[in-house]
Amino acid sequence: MEDRLERLRAMREQALRGGGEERIAQQHGRGKLTARERLALLYDPGSFQELGALAKHGVNDFGLAEERHPGDGVVTGFGKINGRRVAAYAQDFTILGGSFSEVQAQKITRLMDLALESGIPIIGLNDSGGARIQEGVRSLAAYGEVFVRNVLSSGVVPQISVILGPCAGGAVYSPALTDFVIMARDTGYMFLTGPEVIKAVTGRAVTAQELGGAEVHHQRSGVAHLVAPDEPAALNLAKLLLSYLPQNNTEDPPQLAPFDPPERMEPALNTIVPEDERIGYDMLAVIDMIIDRGSLLAIQPEYAANAIVGFARLDGYAVGIVANQPAVLAGALDIDSSDKIARFIRLCDCYNLPVITLVDTPGYLPGIEQEYGGVIRHGAKIIYAYAGATVPKISVVVRKAIGGAYVAMSSKQMRCDLNFAWPTAQIAVMGAEGATRILRRDELKQAADPQALEQQFIAEYRERFFNPYHAADLGQIDEIIEPRETRPRLIRALEILRTKVAQSPPRKHGLYPS
Ligand code: HXC
Repeated sequence: MEDRLERLRAMREQALRGGGEERIAQQHGRGKLTARERLALLYDPGSFQELGALAKHGVNDFGLAEERHPGDGVVTGFGKINGRRVAAYAQDFTILGGSFSEVQAQKITRLMDLALESGIPIIGLNDSGGARIQEGVRSLAAYGEVFVRNVLSSGVVPQISVILGPCAGGAVYSPALTDFVIMARDTGYMFLTGPEVIKAVTGRAVTAQELGGAEVHHQRSGVAHLVAPDEPAALNLAKLLLSYLPQNNTEDPPQLAPFDPPERMEPALNTIVPEDERIGYDMLAVIDMIIDRGSLLAIQPEYAANAIVGFARLDGYAVGIVANQPAVLAGALDIDSSDKIARFIRLCDCYNLPVITLVDTPGYLPGIEQEYGGVIRHGAKIIYAYAGATVPKISVVVRKAIGGAYVAMSSKQMRCDLNFAWPTAQIAVMGAEGATRILRRDELKQAADPQALEQQFIAEYRERFFNPYHAADLGQIDEIIEPRETRPRLIRALEILRTKVAQSPPRKHGLYPS
């Protein structure tokens, strides 16, 4: 028996060494941690249970006979994060560049199957040279096995991808199919075709970071939902994300012990919206004053910054926040912000997070590029997402809610449960200038002083429509509230809706505009 135990211990020891001391030193030299160091940071101490530590690829693979390492380039298992069960896999770049093999896929898909059946979130730590070239189509098929599980797990258990090294070629589609992509700055990068291919095809020289680094995916492509300055911070973001999410779609997100008085009034909110409607203000400051202090985790904060989406807490309960940001593009909705808002609402709906919407938008952004880019189909996603979501939905019209954007941004007709407005709300079909030019064209043409007359009409229009009272008369707004009482009102509204049950007609699935 002792022999057998010795053999097992030796194999385990070998697995712990990954690709060996030299490779580990190279990994550290690249500014990266090893797979096991990452998992040690991710999990509560001592909670990790590894599975498949001794798995190896077949002996006959092209050129790989000498490269059989226990674990085969990925460490998989279950552990606890803040006491909650979480599955994770970490690609081990020290073994064949973490390249994706049939054995890797078997280990990861086994983990995903177990996690799905037990309703446990999954975190993937990506650091891989892509499909293991020596395995040919087997490694490609292996990716397919992961993709299909990403899809089947979508909306059932939270899936988080953390990009800590290369993630290239078709490999990018697994993270892209998960709920969140977190990238570590400087070391993580993602692209479909690398710099060499781009140089050969287009003649343009570009570095890996310029092509697919964290900044690119955070600011331009929208692929990354969060970016961290380094690996430990990226892993902490994954943990923080999980704290807002349930284990699976049959549970509610965990409630934290309330730490901020629910009845807290914020007098500063009464004066935060400038009298002059052309002047912007920072919606983030509004959100900060309403939610439990410091609880906002903004998602895609630097992408389509004219919209804000993120998780927060109200009286300890996790909620999703959707807001227009008047400080950027006056809060207008465009293609990218529509995509950002719509996906986030659907994410909240999957995971039982109520959606709180703060509205201040002059409408969809006019422009030839927007029309050519399909703002119609992208803008439709917001409507589709709000109208389809059955979680509690509460909106507050802070200032502008003009035209189609009023309807789309969580109006009553989008099955919003409770609609509030501040006295500063402006709810109208279109802006005052445009409306006056259309409705009073003939009078303005004939007027002795058209400018004076136009100003008079604009003032009348504003008086009539740039307030929430007409909408309240019609029941489109349930209650006009003082801005300072927004926090207590939202908390009470959430309490009412906590047991909400809403259904949509049975169907296989709808056709999401995309
Ligand atoms: C087998 C690989 C590998 C791969 C890297 N290695 N990628 N082995 N298959 N895909 C090996 C290297 O040969 C090397 O081994 C070791 O891993 C470390 O790699 P380095 O090149 O030394 O590291 P670095 O300089 O940091 O460069 C990292 C890299 C580069 C940029 C990722 O390795 C690279 O370009 N790899 C190939 C990337 C690629 O094109 N993959 C296929 C993408 S297409 P030795 O023993 O020499 O040190 C794809 C399709 C998926 O993945 C489709 C899904 C549907």
